[in-house]
Amino acid sequence: MSGHGIAQVMTATKSGPLSGRAEVPGDKSISHRALIFGAMAVGETKITGLLEGQDVLDTASAMRAFGAEVVQHGAGAWSVHGVGVGGFREPDAVIDCGNSGTGVRLIMGCMATTAMTATFTGDASLRKRPMGRVTDPLSLFGTQAYGRKGGRLPMTVVGAANPVPVRYALPVASAQVKSAVLLAGLNAPGQTVVIEREPTRDHSERMLVGFGAELVVERTSEGNVITLTGQPELRPQVVAVPRDPSSAAFPVCAALIVEGSDIFVPGVSQNLTRNGIYITLVEMGADITFENPREEGGEPVADLRVRFSELRGIEVPPERAPSMIDEYPVLAVVAANAVGRTVMRGVKELRVKESDRIDAMARGLEACGVRVEEDEDTLIVHGMGAGGVPGGATCATHIDHRIAMAFMVAGMASQKPITIDDASPIATSFPLFEGLMTGLGAKLTKG
Ligand code: S3P
Repeated sequence: MSGHGIAQVMTATKSGPLSGRAEVPGDKSISHRALIFGAMAVGETKITGLLEGQDVLDTASAMRAFGAEVVQHGAGAWSVHGVGVGGFREPDAVIDCGNSGTGVRLIMGCMATTAMTATFTGDASLRKRPMGRVTDPLSLFGTQAYGRKGGRLPMTVVGAANPVPVRYALPVASAQVKSAVLLAGLNAPGQTVVIEREPTRDHSERMLVGFGAELVVERTSEGNVITLTGQPELRPQVVAVPRDPSSAAFPVCAALIVEGSDIFVPGVSQNLTRNGIYITLVEMGADITFENPREEGGEPVADLRVRFSELRGIEVPPERAPSMIDEYPVLAVVAANAVGRTVMRGVKELRVKESDRIDAMARGLEACGVRVEEDEDTLIVHGMGAGGVPGGATCATHIDHRIAMAFMVAGMASQKPITIDDASPIATSFPLFEGLMTGLGAKLTKG
């Protein structure tokens, strides 16, 4: 498990043109949800394309601990024999969610309105992250939570025996918080309402409807008003998990900055709550064509053809942040290879991800010779043009898979190699990253 294992040093060296086909793994957000909703349905849910990254494997173990039968049948092919809404049994050991904020926050939500007690922990990164953003709204259902100072893990959650439905306006744009409240609302009587001012990823809403819950989304001047009718019987589903647009961003960005590259990335989600990075890259002058648009696993997808491009810095509109929140680290690398400044405002949520991603990117890029400005809510990267990043540094990854992959992409185009102190966290979301990237022509070495 990342953060518990031995640090694995990795180095990326200036690479020849990248070419070929990049088949990225299943979507992490949808994989967690497929297991959790499957566990809350009555009967057998069948899943294909499940991401077998450590984050998702930890959620699979957690669902077993709550009484669901979760079985792997082959690569990406899993089944979940669910116990129904309110049917969880109390786990007899601590639930370890590893590195996954999505895992722990969604699972807290789905047990919060059942009369049972569960204790959660995670790795050194997850134990630093705030859980109050989830336990505050859960307390409105009648749930109690006892954690460390600042609402940190380990934390014991006592589910409400007689939950009441909740109306909650999200104070932060967070799909994890929205989903935790909706999951808790499943086992509360009456209607639970979540209001989000800025739209965040909508996989929970789509899947809840797919599993047979009554859920209505109204788009109003206050934002999205999501109303869920509690205590449905969820029906098991066949879930085909589409590829992860956040993982796809790594080969896409690498191809854009490594001279002469031309790659094909099939089946990348174009869900409007996830595709902000692709809109941003096109605004920077990226040569990306979106071919064969279609629907896969209930999500709009397209095949991407991506060629090396001379890019220019832009101002990323802050309202776009929720739709590309996980892509800012690799965008910062692309920005360093563009001409002019790239200004990323409204990004303070990056400070409470697997690491403080503004700080991690700023310090790493500076070590590589790039000028960076930051404040609490902003990251500005002064681009050095294609191939202009000096490199020649070792960057700290802080148990954060996306920081690790972002600096490996940086090293594929920098003048001197870039090393990361620990590549092991990459396995949380993209276990085959190294093989996929070297298959395209990237020079990555371990040790
Ligand atoms: C996720 C939501 C986002 C994202 C995370 C996955 C989800 O987190 O960063 O990687 O699956 O709901 P926040 O809810 O904290 O924005």
